[in-house]
Amino acid sequence: MVFELLERGSDRGYIGEQISQLEHALQATLFAVQSKADDETVIASLLHDIGQFCSASELNQMLVDAFDINNDNAADSQDSKPSNKKSVSVGVMGHEKLGSDYLSKLGFSKKVCDLVESHVVAKRYLTAVDPNYYAGLSNASKQSLKFQGGPFSEEEVSIFESDPLFKQKVQLRKWDDASKVVGLQTPGLEAYRKMAVNHLSSQNGNMV
Ligand SMILES: [Fe+2]
Repeated sequence: MVFELLERGSDRGYIGEQISQLEHALQATLFAVQSKADDETVIASLLHDIGQFCSASELNQMLVDAFDINNDNAADSQDSKPSNKKSVSVGVMGHEKLGSDYLSKLGFSKKVCDLVESHVVAKRYLTAVDPNYYAGLSNASKQSLKFQGGPFSEEEVSIFESDPLFKQKVQLRKWDDASKVVGLQTPGLEAYRKMAVNHLSSQNGNMV
């Protein structure tokens, strides 16, 4: 299922760049493999933008399942009538959180989900600690940073640096940023299916 979503990204442009979303994901994955990252980090690199691949209906279904709301009530959530059901707005949630929740539901490990969820905060970290980093961001990425909360404060920097996955989170972000090379040859999606199947089997998940 998750691989079908990725395949769909082959005809979708990666925001502000001349490559597809699938090419972007495969480039980030190749960089992880070349850096001899562990399987969970490679899988997180492949799936880091999965929250941007899901259709609105799939996201809605995921949220319905996750939060036990029914479709009718979700559709009526703009209605002013009070409801005792929990309402969830897809619009207020970033794609990194949507992707992480989605992968968690499919059975991917906490490490994979954490890495996927963190690729936006890692950008906020890097813009706070590296003056050259912001300058190197694409225009699209500079624009999205504003909506993602801007650079971290000093306190946020120190909290982030104490995270056990800190180095991998920053590294994944750097692979993400580098994955905009037009025409770069990479292994295809199928090269990673076995790794994902083995990972899910080890986690008792079953939907690749
Ligand atoms: Fe990305």
